[in-house]
Amino acid sequence: MIELNRLYNADYLDGIKDIDDKSVDLIVTDPPYLFDNGNWYKSDILGENSVYTNSELYDNFGMMKTEMGRFGEDDIATLYDAVIPKMKKVNMFFFCCEEQVPIYGMEARKRGLHYNILVWEKPLSIINKNRFSMNTEYVVRVYDFGTGLNRLNNNEVYNKVLHDSRVTDKIHPTQKPVSIFRKFISLCTQPGDIVLDPFVGSGTAAEACVYEKRKFIGFEKDPKIYEDANKRLRKLTGPFRLFGNIGV
Ligand SMILES: C[S@@+](CC[C@H](N)C(=O)[O-])C[C@H]1O[C@@H](n2cnc3c(N)ncnc32)[C@H](O)[C@@H]1O
Repeated sequence: MIELNRLYNADYLDGIKDIDDKSVDLIVTDPPYLFDNGNWYKSDILGENSVYTNSELYDNFGMMKTEMGRFGEDDIATLYDAVIPKMKKVNMFFFCCEEQVPIYGMEARKRGLHYNILVWEKPLSIINKNRFSMNTEYVVRVYDFGTGLNRLNNNEVYNKVLHDSRVTDKIHPTQKPVSIFRKFISLCTQPGDIVLDPFVGSGTAAEACVYEKRKFIGFEKDPKIYEDANKRLRKLTGPFRLFGNIGV
């Protein structure tokens, strides 16, 4: 049986077998993107000083050494088939790149589910006037009919365009702002509900759950990244250290 409020150093497809069916309230996750080549990405990352140095799964530029670098149709279908039975009602948020948006959407429709596309607009950085700027990322929300959002006082949380700032002190090259995770969690769950992140990275979803007083389960395949995520959670102090046994 899975323990709540801890991360597991495991492939999500193995770890998820220990989660009871119909037990998870929300999935907020950031699976690998669909990279055709890494050139644009490399310009953004740290090279030999990368946080991925010594990682088993990534080279120094954050490119996956395995075929997981292309997280395409088959991977997304496998992901849906693995996680959907675990949910009480389907309610899932997937960070993704532009090329993956139609795949997440079409795989949702095939299963009779609804979806929304949210856009995370980041500031313009390097401008290449041959193409539109790559200052957006996407989040596809997949949900069952009748899965409403909570009524919160802050109207900004209902905006499909997210303007949250990038993370500046990253411990993971694709680390996302905790504020976005907190928004989705507070819109879709109640305190004490269970949130699953099958692709933990630096532990952003878990940290958001601690702030929002939700329970979490997370899987991270890479041992070094898993350790870094646990260190991050152990640093949470004061009112945010809600659980005695965060991490391992
Ligand atoms: C895009 S990153 C997540 C970043 C995270 N949202 C954050 O803010 O730090 C995806 C993570 O999933 C992990 N991963 C890839 N395939 C996996 C699998 N099959 N099972 C578990 N983790 C996996 C990678 O090692 C990587 O750290």
